[in-house]
Amino acid sequence: MIIYFSATGNSFWVARELSMRLSLPYFSIQEAKKIATYEMKADETCILVMPIHAWGPALPMLRFIEDLEMDFFAGHPLYAVCTCGDDCGWAHRVLRKALHQKGAELRATFSIQMPNTYILLPGFNVDTPSIERAKLEAAPTRVRRITEMIRKGGNDMHTLYHPGTFASLKTNFLYSLFRRHISGKTSFQATDACNSCGLCVRICPTRNIRMKPKNLPTWGKACVQCLACIHRCPRRAIECGHITQKKGRYVNPYIYKSRT
Ligand SMILES: Cc1cc2nc3c(=O)[nH]c(=O)nc-3n(C[C@H](O)[C@H](O)[C@H](O)COP(=O)(O)O)c2cc1C
Repeated sequence: MIIYFSATGNSFWVARELSMRLSLPYFSIQEAKKIATYEMKADETCILVMPIHAWGPALPMLRFIEDLEMDFFAGHPLYAVCTCGDDCGWAHRVLRKALHQKGAELRATFSIQMPNTYILLPGFNVDTPSIERAKLEAAPTRVRRITEMIRKGGNDMHTLYHPGTFASLKTNFLYSLFRRHISGKTSFQATDACNSCGLCVRICPTRNIRMKPKNLPTWGKACVQCLACIHRCPRRAIECGHITQKKGRYVNPYIYKSRT
């Protein structure tokens, strides 16, 4: 079974590719009922797929793990696959620890560079079209190599996981900061371009958006900063103060292919 979280489609695309190559079903973390009732075969491989946020696993996936029943993955080979714009820091260690506390041992974590989605700080933006194209072209080869490693039951992640420079510092310091102080707060607002379609409400992983007052979206205090609302708004009608006004938007171009 593959369980994924994805804000803008990169991790969803990876989950779907792995599903096709390994003949495993895939479920979003939001499909809690399907996950709870799915009967895993003995020895069925389990893979968690998620984006990297601030050099750690995206918070919705971490919370999903924290809420799991003890020994949920017991007896199953367990892997994690992270998508990132550049590098992952020590996200693998955060995942390993969280899963260990649930009685599960992570065999290996792999990473795949995909187009970047972080746009909230000065100096950060989506990739240029040529970099975005290059990453999307390189991704299938990386998925193939990861698939081969998982098929072999391998745990050699050295060549297929990219921690980047100052990895421990980034995760220990910046991810901790992100978890404790940055997530939760937002200054997102809808602009005049909003037509109240409600897509942002439906896709928010923490149900943090309400259509009120005046049938316009407003954000509560449970934001995990995945940026699904900003990037996926069909009218580009969501901004975070002034900082995102001149930034690009990104949605994985392959995610609208029907579920297989
Ligand atoms: C809040 C936030 C933080 C991010 N932090 C990192 C990071 O630390 N390192 C990195 O390489 N990419 C980072 N990214 C980029 C995403 O990991 C990357 O674009 C990912 O593929 C998005 O996956 P998704 O489309 O499945 O949501 C960040 C994106 C967001 C929204």
